[in-house]
Amino acid sequence: MANFPSPCSSSSSSSTASFGSSTSAKTWVVHGIVAGVAIAAAVGARAYMTRFDKFRSRVLGIIPARYASSRFPGKPLVQILGKPMIQPLLYLNFFMRVKSLVGLLKIFVHYLCTLPGASCSRKFVATDDEKIADCCLQFGADVIMTSETCKNGTERCNEALQKLGKNYDIVVNIQGDEPLIEPEIIDGVVKALQAAPDAVFSTAVTSLKPEDAHDPNRVKCVIDNRGYAIYFSRGLIPFNKSGKVNQQFPYLLHLGIQSYDVKFLRIYPDLQPTPLQLEEDLEQLKVLENGYKMKVIKVNHEAHGVDTPEDVGKIESLMRERNLS
Ligand SMILES: *[C@@H]1O[C@H](CO)[C@@H](O)[C@H](O)[C@H]1NC(C)=O
Ligand SMILES: *[C@@H]1O[C@H](CO)[C@@H](O)[C@H](O)[C@H]1NC(C)=O
Repeated sequence: MANFPSPCSSSSSSSTASFGSSTSAKTWVVHGIVAGVAIAAAVGARAYMTRFDKFRSRVLGIIPARYASSRFPGKPLVQILGKPMIQPLLYLNFFMRVKSLVGLLKIFVHYLCTLPGASCSRKFVATDDEKIADCCLQFGADVIMTSETCKNGTERCNEALQKLGKNYDIVVNIQGDEPLIEPEIIDGVVKALQAAPDAVFSTAVTSLKPEDAHDPNRVKCVIDNRGYAIYFSRGLIPFNKSGKVNQQFPYLLHLGIQSYDVKFLRIYPDLQPTPLQLEEDLEQLKVLENGYKMKVIKVNHEAHGVDTPEDVGKIESLMRERNLS
C-alpha cells in the first residue's frame, strides 16, 4: 500500500508530460500543415500561371568551361576564397543563398515573383576537361562533356544542347569568368528574350567606368531607344567630336552573359564569319551583321571579370568586403 501513490503519481506525472509534449507536437503539426498548404497553394498558382506563359518558357543554363585558356590556363578551377571559381555560379539561383532562413525566404519570394519559366529550369557545366568535370561532379553539379574542337563558348553551348537532346526554348550562356554575376541579371536577360519575340539573342550592359573607356578588353555597346543593340565595339562608342571621353555621356559596358533562342543557336555556328566580327574579334557582331535583332537590358553591376591571375586577388578582397565568402 505504501507504494500505491508512487505508481499513481508517477503515472500522472508521466501522463502530464506526455500531454504537454503532445500539445506542442500538435501545434507543430498544425503550423506545418498551414505552412505546407500555403506553399502548395503558391507553387500551384505559379504552375497554373505558367500554362498561360508558354512563349520560350523552357530555359537551359550552360556554363561553358574550358581548361586550356591562352591567357589563364585552368581558369575555371582557380581557387577564389577556397572554392573553385566555377562553383558559386552553379548555386546562383539556390544554394548560394541558403545560408539563413532569411536567405531561404528570399529565394522563395523570388521564385514566386519571377515570371514563370524565367529562371533556368536546369543548369549544366559544359566542358572538354576531365579535371573540371570531376570537380563539378564533386559538388553536385550537372556536367556535360563537349568536344575539344569547340572554338568558343557559343559552340560549346550548341553542342551541349544537341547532346542533351531535350526540348528547350532558350539557352543562357553563363560565362564562368564573372563569378559575382547576380542571379537577377541572368533572369533579366532570359525575361528580355521572352518578352521580345522579334529578337533571337539577349544580353546585358552596365555603365562603363571612365577609366575603362580605352581598354579594348572592355566591350562597349550602343543601343536604340527600344533597347535593341545597334553595335558593339572594343573602341569607345559613341565617339565624341572633341576626341575626349565625355564625362557626361552614359557609355555602356557589355557584360558576358547572353541568351539565345534555340532555333537561332542551332544555325548560329554555321553562319559565316562576318567582316565586322572579324575586325573587332567580337562574336556577337555576327548576329547583328546578319540582320538579327538583339535585345539588351541595362543592369546595375560592377563588372569584375577574372581574365588574368592578377584579377583573383582583386575579386577576393571585394568578396571579403561584401561578406560573400
Ligand atoms: C562632347 O563632349 C562634351 C563634353 O566633354 C560635350 O559638351 C559635347 O556636347 C559632346 N559632343 C560634341 C558633339 O561635342
Ligand atoms: C565562335 O563560334 C562560332 C560558331 O562556331 C563562330 O561562328 C564564331 O566565329 C566564333 N567566334 C570567335 C570569336 O571565334
